[in-house]
Parts: sequence; structure tokens; C-alpha cells
Amino acid sequence: MPSASQQIMRLGFGFAVSQALRVIIELGVPDLLAVGERSVDELAAATQSDADALYRVMRLLAPEGIFREVAPRHFELTEIGAVLRSDQPGPRDFVSMINSEAYLAFEQLLYSVRTGKPAFDKVFGSPRFDWLSEHPEQAALFQRAMVALSQGSNEAVAEACDFRPFTRIIDVGGGHGQLLSAILARNPHLSGVLFDLPSGVAAAHEGAGGDLPRTEFIAGDFFESVPSGDVYVIKKVVHDWDDGRAAAILRNCRKAMLPNGKVLVAETLVPPGDEPNQIKGIDVVMLAVTGGLERTEAQYASLFDAAGLRLERVIQTRGPISILEASPAYG
Ligand SMILES: C[S@@+](CC[C@H](N)C(=O)[O-])C[C@H]1O[C@@H](n2cnc3c(N)ncnc32)[C@H](O)[C@@H]1O
Repeated sequence: MPSASQQIMRLGFGFAVSQALRVIIELGVPDLLAVGERSVDELAAATQSDADALYRVMRLLAPEGIFREVAPRHFELTEIGAVLRSDQPGPRDFVSMINSEAYLAFEQLLYSVRTGKPAFDKVFGSPRFDWLSEHPEQAALFQRAMVALSQGSNEAVAEACDFRPFTRIIDVGGGHGQLLSAILARNPHLSGVLFDLPSGVAAAHEGAGGDLPRTEFIAGDFFESVPSGDVYVIKKVVHDWDDGRAAAILRNCRKAMLPNGKVLVAETLVPPGDEPNQIKGIDVVMLAVTGGLERTEAQYASLFDAAGLRLERVIQTRGPISILEASPAYG
């Protein structure tokens, strides 16, 4: 049993494992091991790396479950490591994305904790999504990372909602379009609008999230206005923003909505208690990177109130995501 100080040391080394993962992804090591075990010397030659340095990084990742050292300085990929291959839809893009600008912003987490403001803006000189708009390659990586992070939750949202009463769905901040694609595939009577910043619309156009039949692609700013429709899906968008900005997006949906319309906010709710849950990590990333936050059901209910909407019910999907269904509040 590791001592208390050994356990703290292990936590403190978290950054090393995270960056080492990014390095082996960028070197393409998982792809090189797809056909079977190889020596570090072969891997170093194929990736133009220093063999001893590469060995040390792989030796760090082996006990984390990524590789098995089958003979001295010979590694094979484990089942976990295999999801980092480029032919696997998986978390490799997320690991690369989170270990670039977000990682640099995180070094200033203390600033965010002291001020409540996103460190990203201090480090990069502009807010996260403005910065991404100026950096198309990073914006494309961000969209691929969002697909990876979704891991089945788009299907789970699409199957959990009854879209029969509606005709025109607006995916607000729909980015890559995987959610809209899943909903349209299940609901042939619906037409859709993929609404996002130009970089998100570009990713959807390129098919990053799948086929988008019957879809209008509209680039715009959801703080100004959103297109008109009778059902709004907003997945993993509200959590990017503080309460004032989040309520402004929802208010714009309320304004543009056709009669009998609904807003479906898909987010992971923060559970009570101190059980481990990935959402608590994402919440602190939001603090430092976008200035947003993960919320409890009660916090979402007050946001809807502030936007002239009323929370009707919460649907728990089969994935790690809930749907908060809201209608216009009258009177
Ligand atoms: C965290 S991503 C979520 C993407 C997608 N809905 C999903 O679930 O994977 C947030 C999305 O909001 C978009 N976005 C950010 N600011 C925006 C704005 N002012 N107007 C429209 N879209 C915006 C981003 O481009 C991005 O696609």
C-alpha cells in the first residue's frame, strides 16, 4: 500500500503521463505497433526520435496500461493502448487537444481560482473560442476532440427524445454535427439546421460527425441570434459559459422559437457527494479555459428561469449525459 506521500507524489506526476500520451500519439507509435511488437530502436528510427528518450517515455506509460514490455526494450500495444491508433474513433484527438493550449492555460489555474476568470484569456490574450476562430488547424482538432469526447452520447441523446411533434430542429453550437446526424437518421420527417461559428460549420460540412441530409448550415454567433425552429438541441455548449452568457444563449432560443417549441439542453449533471466523476475534472478545465462551469439540476433550473424558460423534466439517457427539457415560461 503506497504511503500518503507516495500517493500525493503520484497525483503530482499526472501532467507527465498526460504529456507522454500526447507525445506517443504525435509520433504515431500506436499505429506502428498495430501489426505487433517492435523494438524501441525500430520505433525510434521510424519516428525520427532518440531511442533512449523514447524508451523512457514508453516505460512510463507501460505501467499505466498503454504498452507491455514483452522483452527488454520491446513493446506491444495493450487493448487500452489500441484505442490510440489512428484508425480507431477514440480519445487520441482529445488527448492531443487538451494537452496543447488548454494545458498551457492550466498552468495558470491559480489565477482562475483567485479571480474566478478563465486563465486562457490571460495566457493567450483572447477568449478560447475567439482564439480558435483565428487558428483553423486547432479549431479542426477541437471539433475532432469533441467527437471523441462524445463517445456514444450523441446516439444516446438521439434515442432518448421523442422528436415526432417537431418539424425543424436547430442544433445550436452543433459543431461537427454528429448529434444532428444521429437525430436526422432516426427522424426522416425532420429538417435540420446546423448552427455554429464558421469553424464548427466547416467541420460539419467536411463530414466530421457523419451524414447531414435535409440540413441547412448556418454560421453565426449565438449571442446575437439563432435561427427559427420548433426544437432546439444544445449539447455541451451551455457548460462553456458563465451564468450571464449561458442565459443569453437560452434567451435567444426562446426569442427565435416557433409556438409550442422546446429547448433540449444536453449536459452531464454534477452529482452530489465526493464520488470520482470525470465531470468534476471537466468542470475545472472549464473554469480555466472557457470560464464556464458544470452545473447541478437546480443550477440549470435557475438558468432556464433567467432566460424566460421553465425546466419541464430531466431525461437520463443510457449515456453519461442528461437532457434538460424546457418550454417557454408564460406569465
Ligand atoms: C464544446 S463544443 C460542443 C459541440 C457539440 N455540440 C458537441 O456536443 O460536441 C461548443 C461549440 O460551441 C460553438 N460556439 C462557441 N461560441 C459560439 C458562438 N458565439 N456562436 C455559435 N457557436 C459557438 C463552438 O464552435 C463549438 O462547436
